[in-house]
Amino acid sequence: MDIKQYFKRKAELIDAELNRLLPADSETPQTIHQAMRYSVFAGGKRLRPILAIAAGEVFGAGERELLPVASSLEMIHTYSLIHDDLPAMDNDDLRRGLPTCHVKFGEAIAILAGDALLTQAFVTLADYETSYPERKARVISEVARASATKNALIGGQVLDIQAEGKPVTGAELEDIHRGKTGALIRCSIRIGAILGGANESELAALTVYGEKAGLAFQVADDLLDETATSEELGKTAGKDAASHKATYTSLYGIHGAREMAERLCREAIAAARNVERNTEVLESIARFIVERKS
Ligand code: IPE
Ligand code: IPE
Ligand code: MG
Ligand code: MG
Ligand code: MG
Repeated sequence: MDIKQYFKRKAELIDAELNRLLPADSETPQTIHQAMRYSVFAGGKRLRPILAIAAGEVFGAGERELLPVASSLEMIHTYSLIHDDLPAMDNDDLRRGLPTCHVKFGEAIAILAGDALLTQAFVTLADYETSYPERKARVISEVARASATKNALIGGQVLDIQAEGKPVTGAELEDIHRGKTGALIRCSIRIGAILGGANESELAALTVYGEKAGLAFQVADDLLDETATSEELGKTAGKDAASHKATYTSLYGIHGAREMAERLCREAIAAARNVERNTEVLESIARFIVERKS
């Protein structure tokens, strides 16, 4: 399985779908639509939509549902990055290889572009056409919960900010990472499986995969912050140490964090193999998550 080719092919489909779903630059008020498109199309690996598609394909889900739902995840992810970079949060000026949204458009428009992408994600989820209305209702609930506060994205971001400059335990660090990054990744896998009509035991196995892969992803993000360059990452390297962030590398060291990422990757793969279907793509994505260079 050539995972790079797989990512490239799926990213093209997702980008075309995002282009269809996001208001055109020329729509009034132009500034907000320009800012939304600027951040979405600046680049990005499209990991969350690709995970949703890959999980959906395991169970034969169709593109009619998968593409809009997957794209809504990328809108939410991009909103979270725009807000994460704001001066009041991580205060970053480089993202996806370009000046951050607030550097380019000003803080007010960046805040609103984040709000607008989150809202547009739910417009997309509410409006996509399907012959499976019960699955659709479940998908909307899952995405909303993963984006919310309890064991979810915003809650994790709150814990992350509050932990700056303070000592944290391993359990507290895991809570931060599971929320801020893990929840949306876990959700991506689950909604792909739900769209494909996975049964409850298949869904449970892929949920474990999603939890392990989601945590592994943020451990790798922490490692890359210390070991890669800003050019490789398209965002400022060394930022976590400078901001006294609670990270896996600050708690366990580079070696300890790397071992943890590899263990989580093995556990994710083992969970995927509990599903009696072809999960090769998901297994390759788990490896990509910990071996990636950006
Ligand atoms: C970065 O996510 C922020 C985290 C949640 C760690 P990605 O590494 O997926 O960023 P893009 O989408 O590829 O830019
Ligand atoms: C960001 O975590 C998580 C979300 C955006 C929800 P980080 O703050 O570690 O992400 P980067 O390193 O800036 O991409
Ligand atoms: Mg952050
Ligand atoms: Mg950040
Ligand atoms: Mg980071």
